[in-house]
Amino acid sequence: MDRSWELAVVGATGVVGRELVGALAQAGHPPDRVRLLASERSVGEELPFGDETLEVERATAETLRGARLVFLATPADVSRTLAQVAEAGRAMVVDTSRAFLSDLRTPVVFPHVPGAAWAASRKRGGSGSRVR
Ligand SMILES: NC(=O)c1ccc[n+]([C@@H]2O[C@H](COP(=O)([O-])OP(=O)(O)OC[C@H]3O[C@@H](n4cnc5c(N)ncnc54)[C@H](OP(=O)(O)O)[C@@H]3O)[C@@H](O)[C@H]2O)c1
Repeated sequence: MDRSWELAVVGATGVVGRELVGALAQAGHPPDRVRLLASERSVGEELPFGDETLEVERATAETLRGARLVFLATPADVSRTLAQVAEAGRAMVVDTSRAFLSDLRTPVVFPHVPGAAWAASRKRGGSGSRVR
């Protein structure tokens, strides 16, 4: 499996996903590869990522396989399923839905909270392979 620095955004065609893609493109840590994923309905749609134009692919075990970091900007039921799929490939998962709100093993991350607070929350939260 290619463990190069691969990033996947699931729900890239949605309201949150588009904002996320824009912010990630400007974040200053360019990945080796970016995959923009959504449902079957959006396959082939083109979206910008920085200076590039990327084609949207369907989110499947196959398209998530190489990702090291996966953002889920999907409905909660979809997030529940795809978080498991991404974690099976040992990706770190960040979910924007309510799917894991009541799961105490999943740390909550608030934007702009310093990294030390996140690290402390991960210690309390167990495996820390998923955040919400
Ligand atoms: N909007 C907000 O202000 C806001 C704020 C905080 C949190 N949230 C949460 O963030 C999540 C996304 O919200 P949103 O407003 O961005 O929703 P949205 O605009 O409806 O976008 C949903 C995204 O999920 C994708 N999707 C749906 N079913 C899928 C499936 N089976 N497999 C793969 N992708 C699938 C859609 O792809 P297609 O385009 O192909 O259908 C679309 O890209 C939700 O859980 C929401 O509760 C939203």
